[in-house]
Amino acid sequence: MTGLADTDAWKALERHRDEVAGLAMRELFAADPERFQRLSIDLDGLFLDYSKNRMTGETLDKLVALAETARLTEWRDSLFAGQPINASEGRAAQHVALRDNGSLTGDFASEIATSNLRLREFTESIRSGAYRGASSEPILHVVNIGIGGSYMGPLLATTALTEEFESKADATPRTTPDVRFVANLDGHDLATTLRDLNPETTLFLIASKSFSTEETMLNAATARAWLVEGIGDDDVSRHFVGLTANPAAALDFGIAAENIFEFWDWVGGRFSLWSSVGLSVSLAAGNDKFQALLAGAHAMDRHFATAPLAANMPVLLGLIGIWNINFLGIETMAVLPYDERLRHLPGHLQQLEMESNGKSVTRDGLPVSGSTAPVVFGTAGTVGQHSFHQHLHQGSSPVATDFIGVAEPGHDRLISHMLAQAAALMHGRTADEVRADLAATATGVGSIEALVPHMTCPGNRPSNTLLLRRLTPETLGMLLALYEHKVFVQGILWGINSFDQFGVEFGKTLAADLLGRLAGDQMDDNNCDGSTAGLIDRYRLWRGSRR
Ligand code: F6P
Repeated sequence: MTGLADTDAWKALERHRDEVAGLAMRELFAADPERFQRLSIDLDGLFLDYSKNRMTGETLDKLVALAETARLTEWRDSLFAGQPINASEGRAAQHVALRDNGSLTGDFASEIATSNLRLREFTESIRSGAYRGASSEPILHVVNIGIGGSYMGPLLATTALTEEFESKADATPRTTPDVRFVANLDGHDLATTLRDLNPETTLFLIASKSFSTEETMLNAATARAWLVEGIGDDDVSRHFVGLTANPAAALDFGIAAENIFEFWDWVGGRFSLWSSVGLSVSLAAGNDKFQALLAGAHAMDRHFATAPLAANMPVLLGLIGIWNINFLGIETMAVLPYDERLRHLPGHLQQLEMESNGKSVTRDGLPVSGSTAPVVFGTAGTVGQHSFHQHLHQGSSPVATDFIGVAEPGHDRLISHMLAQAAALMHGRTADEVRADLAATATGVGSIEALVPHMTCPGNRPSNTLLLRRLTPETLGMLLALYEHKVFVQGILWGINSFDQFGVEFGKTLAADLLGRLAGDQMDDNNCDGSTAGLIDRYRLWRGSRR
């Protein structure tokens, strides 16, 4: 793998894996009363317990040695210095600069400060009612049209920060627009979102770095038609805002220059929450909270940039993932937030992890020789407990789980379930324990021995637990930046470029060709395999003659 697999550090880990593979975590805990203290880290409102992993202190030392061999600290410094580390696209990945309020001195410092100020002023004009639509009504509804990073992060943060129990009191309906999100190409998404809205009081945010993404452009055009039908086409531009790195295309679409909030091509789509794409968050939760979100992310940036590797939360999370994937063969990861406000976190991390590191070639274009990004899935606890957790406990292929909980009053039941799941996955339940439990409780359920194999749980399934002291903009910012840097760490160790996504582009090109064929255009059959051609014929038959 990237040459790293040939290094002494990698080989030492392989030998070490063979030594520790047979260890049971429950025995490691029994043998070491300090294990939790040693394998956990506390960072100002965010606590990570990584003691429920199939590793020892020696494993961590060897993983840190591997990170050093991969020159992680140099790569980390290049990230923060704005070096063009996204080599295949010839640019930097400088999203960290967007949350560096004050100390930034680089070329973009003043542009970023100006952008943040404009976002604040615009937010205040909407929330105060000073901004008026075409018929002089204030804006009561905001619809963010965007997809991928122009959707997932803003949706997650808006949901998390506007459902904050403690802040409900200061959010009056008068000053807080109702913010909704539309992403899907399927017109049902926009149609159901607009069903109860009044065009006179609705503002659309067209969030698209490229301002050319098919889904977003189609939904934006449909939104414009809806507005024109409702309020005529004079001053329709007052109902649109563009959040983009392509202001010329936003102008062409008809968005007024003063309503275009530009960002930079060095902000990757899946990192654009921190740019003007975060306007939906600012409008929904208030600009102070958006700024606090940036500040929380910046705090994590500082920690990542300065803490020693062995005491660095994103580094630890990244290295544990490498251990699970490349040495223990656990290639699936569940993200389970035990907090309804964080229900969109699994979706956001799916894009972050799988779009960033779902790659099979190194930065030099050579094949990687092992697995890279995990398959990520998840849902809010406790909902998943009644569907896929069965697989987590007894499935034939182990999954590594990240549990996320918030230590707020009223969460005792939630947290009891979260802790129970993590403990059960780690402990498992031996055949003898099942026998003893059944002997103590079973009454006339048939043979105990027949049930034993069904009720035995293998255990030794790894998990991390992240506990937030409160869900605040600051801790949410820390959490999101933590995962961004974790993904960066893993990309460096796998030797891949975490900042491009050419696979996605390929599918988009094919869809454009096939759209013509669905309409009846002749296509070069070399571009269409038998299955696709057959499905097109069947689709056209069932659809009817018209599109
Ligand atoms: O799906 C690929 C992708 O390029 C993502 O990386 C990006 O977040 C999304 O499309 C949307 O792109 P844009 O913001 O340019 O509309």
